[in-house]
Amino acid sequence: MIIIGSDHAGYDMKEKIKEKLREENYEYLDVSPDYIEGDDYTDIVNNVCSKMRQDDKAIMICGTGIGSAIAANKYKKIRAAICYDEYTAKYTRLHNDANMLCLGGRTSLANDDNKLYDIVKTFLNTEFSGEERHVRRLNKIKEIEEKEGK
Ligand code: RB5
Repeated sequence: MIIIGSDHAGYDMKEKIKEKLREENYEYLDVSPDYIEGDDYTDIVNNVCSKMRQDDKAIMICGTGIGSAIAANKYKKIRAAICYDEYTAKYTRLHNDANMLCLGGRTSLANDDNKLYDIVKTFLNTEFSGEERHVRRLNKIKEIEEKEGK
């Protein structure tokens, strides 16, 4: 399942992405409310993270993608990545096993639908490589989570 959410600044981009997901028969769940001026990305991140189960992926959109990623990475087992092109979307899946794609609804991506859809599809369709060195590094991140009591 794909869990999707946005604050007010990411609302239009989220609607565009949902339309594309529907066209391409992806199943998704939108956990953000209808447009609310000035709502807090932290609240939507909380909705998204609470809904995520193992193997789910999420897409979270705020103005820059940055606040969402900072907040989401405080949650256990969430690996949120801000992606700005196909390359970052591909490698954050292959190397980091990122499970949340964070996008900036007020960045230049808002004016480049083809690039936006390429990022989303690459993120959703690329599997984690499973290579030993990446597993080792992810295990070190888990150790940090445990040490920090996350
Ligand atoms: C909202 O104005 C904006 O700060 C928020 O959407 C996001 O960009 C935060 O990182």
